[in-house]
Amino acid sequence: MREQLTELLEQGRSALMNADSAEALQQARVALLGKKGSMTGIMKGMGRMTAEERPVIGALANRIKEELETLFEERAAFIEEQELQRRLATERIDVTLPGRTRFSGSRHPVTLVTEEICDIFASLGFGVEEGPEVEQDFYNFEALNMPKDHPARDMQDTFYINDDVVLRTHTSPVQIRAMLKHAPPVRVIAPGTVYRRDSDITHSPMFHQIEGFLVDRHISFGDLKGILTTFITQYFGKNVGVRFRPSFFPFTEPSAEVDIQCVICGGGGCRVCKKSGWLEILGSGMIDPEVFRSVNYDSEKYSGFAFGMGIERIAMLKYGVNDLRLFFENDVRFLQQF
Ligand code: DAH
Repeated sequence: MREQLTELLEQGRSALMNADSAEALQQARVALLGKKGSMTGIMKGMGRMTAEERPVIGALANRIKEELETLFEERAAFIEEQELQRRLATERIDVTLPGRTRFSGSRHPVTLVTEEICDIFASLGFGVEEGPEVEQDFYNFEALNMPKDHPARDMQDTFYINDDVVLRTHTSPVQIRAMLKHAPPVRVIAPGTVYRRDSDITHSPMFHQIEGFLVDRHISFGDLKGILTTFITQYFGKNVGVRFRPSFFPFTEPSAEVDIQCVICGGGGCRVCKKSGWLEILGSGMIDPEVFRSVNYDSEKYSGFAFGMGIERIAMLKYGVNDLRLFFENDVRFLQQF
């Protein structure tokens, strides 16, 4: 038995030292020292021993068992350390790397200006209305006092879908739709996308406008001046100069274009205002009785004014942007600035 035990120690040592994972090590331990292991098998021979031999072999068996346990502990600690080192090497995180930033978005300047303008008119009692971008000739031209042969149609560079359907060239058709929907008094502001066959540094085939109009009893040109001046001073500042200049539109009579003092040079004259000191920002006028007739409004009872402006142009003046195309290139370096 003595030889069996010393052999077990030798075998056990190499089995434990060769185990290269926590599981293999545990298996080796069970095979050596477990209930059905080699050690138990050897100790079954104890029964056949003399009373003198028994304590000597018992003590030897205990020492071997302890030694194997110690070897097991040491090997287990070694394997655990190795595993830790492996994980440290493979799961390394470089905490000095810059983090991934989430950039917050911002509103497009066209959206921003549209919202600001709508807010000002909302505070003056105007409600927002929208209309279709693919529009019938009737709303885009006919009802706005521009019959088929009207020369003013030439100025609009229209995209025709067919003889009766166009891409709307302005937001004025929303006027017609709103008046057909509501009886007076009405106060409406209508922002939207419009289309014209025109493309250069100052023209884009797609751009944005805001139309507005007001109809009630006893509305005069004084109301038009008052509302538009209020809007302009709220939007561009109290001290900006405003002037109303006679003009012509088929759907208004009388008509006026509105200029503000050049926001770049303050009125002294520069490249942007072409040395005039003034910048045109909108068209306006008293709604023509012909327009009222096409929506069945009684022009003896009611009068009103309308106005329309280009949003990109307002944005360019407000933010000092010198190229219209920047609004449509979607370069985040430009868009982030608003
Ligand atoms: N619809 C015109 C255009 O696109 C702008 C305009 C001028 C609208 C005068 C109006 C107005 O309502 O009264 O050029």
